[in-house]
Amino acid sequence: MGITIGIDGPSGSGKSTVSKELARRHSLAYLDTGAMYRAATWWVLSQDVDLADEDAVVACVSAMPLMVPIDPDDQTIICDGIDITDTIRTPELSRVVSTVSSYYPVRDILIGMQRDIIDAEQSPDSFSHGRGIVAEGRDITTVVRPEADVRVLLTASEEARLARRARELVGTADAETIEKTRGIVSERDRQDSAVTKFMEASDGVFTIDSSTMSIDDVVDTITNLAGRLT
Ligand code: DC
Repeated sequence: MGITIGIDGPSGSGKSTVSKELARRHSLAYLDTGAMYRAATWWVLSQDVDLADEDAVVACVSAMPLMVPIDPDDQTIICDGIDITDTIRTPELSRVVSTVSSYYPVRDILIGMQRDIIDAEQSPDSFSHGRGIVAEGRDITTVVRPEADVRVLLTASEEARLARRARELVGTADAETIEKTRGIVSERDRQDSAVTKFMEASDGVFTIDSSTMSIDDVVDTITNLAGRLT
């Protein structure tokens, strides 16, 4: 039986970097569920569907021709034959993704896809050859796979999260950029936490505060929690 590691956390907690490195180090598959919500948002917009029309959004997402990448070294994401890897990270898209992810029927569709991907990695003829998967997002440890072998909530102080996001978005983390980022990040976290509980750990979920830890230290900590990986 392969291992399933679920990692949740807010924007800027470092979960993508940590999850990818963890998957690489242990030859596991890697699933970025946030990228799926971003892709769904891109798809809906590309079909000229009104984001405020929940029924239309749900119908559109249910027909989304998405290829979800699970290689930590190749996260090229293709929808309807179009490479949307960069487009789904733009500030314009980031601003509206929470609207799409707040629709529960949309979540049900994507959660079903996520569970299928996680289950497939238990099989010897999968990408990980049955070794398992690291899945990251906001609700992996609580909704998608509460019975995962290892469940982690990765947090960081607001200042550390804002500095990371500013570096990602603009390339620098000076005081002015951090202030600009604050509004965007806080608003998205506020909207997201109305739907998914990722600011505090549920029972049995191990919290790691990454504010002053290196990526390697966080990966080591999760590796130790997983035990049987080493
Ligand atoms: O992790 P991210 O910033 O790429 O996520 C993009 C959006 O998707 C975020 O605003 C919240 C939503 N999301 C979610 O609702 N549930 C998840 N499991 C992952 C992401």
